Amino acid sequence: MQIIKNVCDLRELIKAWRIAGETIAFVPTMGNLHAGHLQLVTRAKAVANRVVVSIFVNPTQFGVGEDFEAYPRTEKADQDKLAAERVDVLFLPAVDDIYTPDVRTTVTVAEISDWYCGTSRPGHFTGVATIVCKLFNIVQPNIALFGLKDFQQFTIIKIMVRDLNIPVVIIGVDTVREPSGLAMSSRNGYLTESEKQVASELYRVLCIARDTIIEGISSYDDVQDQALLTLQQLGFKPDYMSVCRGSDLKKATPEDSDLVLLAAARLGKTRLIDNIYFSK
Ligand code: PAJ
Repeated sequence: MQIIKNVCDLRELIKAWRIAGETIAFVPTMGNLHAGHLQLVTRAKAVANRVVVSIFVNPTQFGVGEDFEAYPRTEKADQDKLAAERVDVLFLPAVDDIYTPDVRTTVTVAEISDWYCGTSRPGHFTGVATIVCKLFNIVQPNIALFGLKDFQQFTIIKIMVRDLNIPVVIIGVDTVREPSGLAMSSRNGYLTESEKQVASELYRVLCIARDTIIEGISSYDDVQDQALLTLQQLGFKPDYMSVCRGSDLKKATPEDSDLVLLAAARLGKTRLIDNIYFSK
């Protein structure tokens, strides 16, 4: 595995691969890699000849008072994991190379970026869309892989690629979970042992909500209210729980059949998100 920190060096290599007719799959991450990230890498290897993984803790997607400074940075362990997966390139850019002081341009996917997680994290999805667009321009992959755990992020990236005619195929990969059901996340490291047990209830609450809908409940407001109440009783501070249309994340109506239940809740100092997508 080559470790490349410099944009020009990466471009040279990508150019050579392109001339040789190789296909490139790209997995952008912020590091502190776990089995969820590695599942993206496994899928990437199955769909292209070459795999590039980036690790970049992107400052512009963290709000004031969020955990940018505290975000876990485990560079050596991450390198070992990616080398074991036989990734071709680990791209490790420096913040100053990505954001020059005179940067003026951002990418915002309107409306959806202000919903759900966007409500409590203003500017977050502009930070995500901008860095992903920049990384796509640097890596120029044929395919990029994203986790469905971050369903709103995945949807926003798909809209950005469509709207800006970016020639990258976006693949979504199912959420990898702990045996308890807890969705794997770099932020789970903030949880205490007892919080970890409670945290796994978030997925269970979503499963119950999904089952109620499949059984035919007609009021999605009731489903949401019940789920929020249960989360509160379990000790969470819920942010939102919403029954959405899988295609565009607008509020679902009873006529919609492809649904996704999105939820975010705080437990102690940790903010957790999870979702379930299903057809009824
Ligand atoms: P990060 O949180 O490091 O996640 C990198 C990728 O791994 C994302 O596509 C995310 O959805 C996926 N992922 C995380 N946990 C997962 C799990 N349990 N199962 C499956 N996939 C999982 O998401 C980001 O970084 C950033 O916003 C980024 C896209 C890199 C832009 O900075």
